[in-house]
Amino acid sequence: MTTLPTFRLPLPADEFLRDVWQKKPLLMRGAASGLDHPDPDTLAGLALEDCVESRLMTGAGNGPWNVQQGPFTEQDFAALPKQNWTLLVQSVDHFMTEVSLLLDSFAFLPGWRIEDIMLSYAVTGGSVGPHYDRYDVFLIQASGKRRWQIGPHCDDNSPRLPHDQLRLLADMPVSEEFVVEAGDVLYLPPGIGHWGVAEDDECVTWSVGFRAPAPADLLARLADTAIERADQSLYSDPGRSPCPAPEMLADVDIASLSKQALALIDQDVTREALASLLSEPRQPAGLDFEVDCGHIAAASTDTVLVRHGAARLLIDNQGDAWLNGERRALSDAERPLACLLARQRKYTEMELQPLLNDESEQLMEEWIDAGFFTVIE
Ligand code: SIN
Ligand code: CO
Repeated sequence: MTTLPTFRLPLPADEFLRDVWQKKPLLMRGAASGLDHPDPDTLAGLALEDCVESRLMTGAGNGPWNVQQGPFTEQDFAALPKQNWTLLVQSVDHFMTEVSLLLDSFAFLPGWRIEDIMLSYAVTGGSVGPHYDRYDVFLIQASGKRRWQIGPHCDDNSPRLPHDQLRLLADMPVSEEFVVEAGDVLYLPPGIGHWGVAEDDECVTWSVGFRAPAPADLLARLADTAIERADQSLYSDPGRSPCPAPEMLADVDIASLSKQALALIDQDVTREALASLLSEPRQPAGLDFEVDCGHIAAASTDTVLVRHGAARLLIDNQGDAWLNGERRALSDAERPLACLLARQRKYTEMELQPLLNDESEQLMEEWIDAGFFTVIE
């Protein structure tokens, strides 16, 4: 039977967030299901597309390690050895809406914190080598077996293998080792060393990665937005005291200059800058990919509408919608529907019906016409 991808935390969300999230790895046996789609051939097909980010990694044990960036050709795949390679395809949820539906299972975290789902397909011995990631990740085994070794917390100072393109750990003391099977989920906080090696030829792993914007990038967006909105007014200093040392840039002047500059980053600017940045999808090009309505209809007969996997929708603290970086002001009549559309990714008639009125129906039409939502027949 076809089912949609689902993950269930095996402990209460508040306990997970208090004890595990950003703190320590957690292996959750049998916590996911419905991850049999896409199959490896369909995944490889995505890696042929220009707008899809993909990598082929070869290597095992002590190396040598090699990485090739996609897009690939059929010939590239035909030329691969029998063992020790992995194909990685980034943001598969943006290109295959049915994959994005897994993300409804992560509603214990705000939607803006989710980045994307990467899928990997490995043959026996395939891996991406020992490494650490800078963001949280849930590694979900979809099919086949993978042996995981877990290492210590690492950072920029951790010794690395010499390689132009890869950041592999030179030495990873193993603190834990286990084999995962379909449905097992491994959560890793940022910085934990890990190495997962395929134990058979059908090893597919889904990685749900999280968005952790660098504070410097947030500041850049805040500043850009503030500059766009700034008027032409100039620095002013009425009521100045007599200056005891004209050669000095004094503390009092530094404070007053920076205060006038930072005042440009007011509440409206902050909201606009953060909401636009955090509602930008990693791969907007995904919107050009059609939704596989047949697969979704077969797996969930009561679903009548889905959000496209490349549509990123947030509601800001003033009650307006932000869809793929653009603000859409909402009327009171539209807001309840928009909140539902932002809260989850698939919708039943029973959920939608009570929220529909003349205005909200028009909003839904507008977003369906633009390709952000798709009706499932
Ligand atoms: C993989 O799926 O092969 C590797 C994912 C990871 O280690 O982050
Ligand atoms: Co990793």
